[in-house]
Amino acid sequence: MQRGYFITFEGLDGSGKTTQLRRLAAWLESEGHTVVTLRQPGGTTLGDRIRSILLDSRSEATLGPIAPLAEMALMFADRAQSIHEIILPALVAGHIVLCDRYTDSSEAYQGAGRQLGSERILAMHRAVCNNLQPDLTLLLLPSLDASLHRARRRNLRTTQQKGTDEGRFEREDDGFYRRIYQAYETIAAREPQRVAAIRDDAGIEDIQARIRQIVAARIAAPVI
Ligand code: TMP
Repeated sequence: MQRGYFITFEGLDGSGKTTQLRRLAAWLESEGHTVVTLRQPGGTTLGDRIRSILLDSRSEATLGPIAPLAEMALMFADRAQSIHEIILPALVAGHIVLCDRYTDSSEAYQGAGRQLGSERILAMHRAVCNNLQPDLTLLLLPSLDASLHRARRRNLRTTQQKGTDEGRFEREDDGFYRRIYQAYETIAAREPQRVAAIRDDAGIEDIQARIRQIVAARIAAPVI
């Protein structure tokens, strides 16, 4: 079976990962690769529904408080669907998959942020995702203060411009984000082969240059 290459992007809200993912996709395509991009939660029809339930801060007004374990299970339902519909078919076809967030987000946000524990998340990953691991994870970890500031500003802007609200996570307190930050550090230390952490607040171009270097060192040139 020919297998493509699976890259995930991780970091706190506002870490700049989405911008970096888009730029990396454009560059890889210009180098002749076929690239499939997606984000979690979302990306499939089912996943987009799950996303709007989980991220909209108005959800709880109609649904009532979402239990942490329900939140975790919905994140994994989204993931199972996107593995089935998008990720595995793309990898089997030999494409490069760039995914904005994956199971590390569940370990950081639900495992640490909601304090459900890493073990439970990793067990879900084995059961629901067949333990499908990224080949490479690019973890953007600028300082906690910088990330929080950007996330809150961005959410305010999106709400004003589009009338959509994805702020259910962004309104959490600083302790929640501190635990997430620490969890990402722990994951990076635990899996140094898979996780490449980029820690500083360099500009978009500098960080993109570093990302390209890391990726180029890992993937072979495409056969045209
Ligand atoms: P983003 O698409 O802007 O990164 O937002 C997704 C939000 O969902 C973000 O606040 C992190 C959260 N999230 C989790 O809590 N657990 C998960 O497993 C995933 C994929 C996302």
